[in-house]
Amino acid sequence: MAEAVRKLASELISENFSVISDTLHIGGMSVEDLARRFGTPLFLYDAGILRARLAELRSALGGFADIFYSVKANPNQEILRCFVQEGTGLEIASGAEYLRARAAGCPSERIFFAGPAKSDAELQLVLAEGIGEIHVESFEEIERLDILARMAGRRAHIGLRINPEASAQGGAMRMGGRAAPFGFDEETLPEVLEAIGKRSSLLLQGLHLYSGTQILDAGTLAKQWRHGLDVARRVVASLGRPLQTLDLGGGLGIPYFSNDRALCLETLKDHVAQLRHEVAQSSELTGMSIVIEPGRYLIGPAGIYVCSVQSWKISRGTTFVVTDGGMHHHLAASGNLGQFVKRDYPITSAANLSASELTQCSVVGPLCTPLDTLGRDVALPKMRRGDLVVVLQSGAYALSASPTGFLSHPTPAEVMLDQGAAREIRSPGTFSQPLSQLPLG
Ligand SMILES: Cc1ncc(COP(=O)(O)O)c(C=O)c1O
Repeated sequence: MAEAVRKLASELISENFSVISDTLHIGGMSVEDLARRFGTPLFLYDAGILRARLAELRSALGGFADIFYSVKANPNQEILRCFVQEGTGLEIASGAEYLRARAAGCPSERIFFAGPAKSDAELQLVLAEGIGEIHVESFEEIERLDILARMAGRRAHIGLRINPEASAQGGAMRMGGRAAPFGFDEETLPEVLEAIGKRSSLLLQGLHLYSGTQILDAGTLAKQWRHGLDVARRVVASLGRPLQTLDLGGGLGIPYFSNDRALCLETLKDHVAQLRHEVAQSSELTGMSIVIEPGRYLIGPAGIYVCSVQSWKISRGTTFVVTDGGMHHHLAASGNLGQFVKRDYPITSAANLSASELTQCSVVGPLCTPLDTLGRDVALPKMRRGDLVVVLQSGAYALSASPTGFLSHPTPAEVMLDQGAAREIRSPGTFSQPLSQLPLG
């Protein structure tokens, strides 16, 4: 198993990074130098990878869909700014994400807001400041938004989030096709359209389907997208008027584990060509702009998590490499975020990359729980205190999806590498206070 994980790590290193003098480099810079400069634990993001992935996806889509980056994957302000500068819209899930999106320079009409528990304050905020679409998810929300829109003297531009029927599913973590708090069950569409039609302060302009995350099979994505087109045709026919947008969701996956095969963009391109043909043939879909809202696919491979070895020991035959980083910064790598079976993320040392003498070990963090394990069966060269361990594929659902308050260890810095320069885009701190304000002497 450790061998397979190592193979994936080396494939990812040759795809995205470089090895100079047997040490790992990201964005042309040495990970060891960056760790010395910014301290560890540390998240590093290469803006070049982000841009390249966006460009490749755009090229595969060939104009089929506009891209709205899903902020929840990594909400760092500078990452959002980078996406906005590259021309994406943003998909948000909270009022705070709305404020981040605006601060990153995203025009209000390029923001879509989905989420099953939007508060009055959040809805009032986006109604007052402007937003592309609010994606409504329940009858209760329809009623409440109608009242809030009247109070604000605005017409709310809404999209209808639909929980698609089971046959249109696929993906590792299914979000639709079964009972879920997300969106309206597809079977209830006639009642939903009737409820919206009665409320003059709501303008239905779009549809939204999001079926699941971490989809590596282009055919599964195409199946879901085709189903979205089908639903849109039916809704337009039932309304008797065109809709402006069809948001087909995110969910494009990346390889994390030894048997994962990267999503093949060439295959996706072929499917998309067929879908474009179908759109062109459908009068109901004429003029409708199609959107996808990926997060993980765009930012996941651009980020790495760097920790330094604090200690090591052997317990009953297992070698433990104990680092200053762990599940409090990277819950997903520890296998505690949505995985049923805990498998190792691709992990590597930052140095001695060609070493042939390797030790099988468990890479663990500083928390007092066995859950705090970053790798269970990792092959690493001999590690000493201060050596660096790097978790690849760490740009998405990492820091912001982790229990940073647990045990009050400092939160890591985040650093963006862009065109040969390294810039801190988030300072280290605690989950509630900047480090500089702590009475540490
Ligand atoms: C509504 C919605 N859109 C987009 C995404 C982004 O998904 P992914 O990062 O898998 O592309 C999510 C993730 O949960 C989501 O809930």
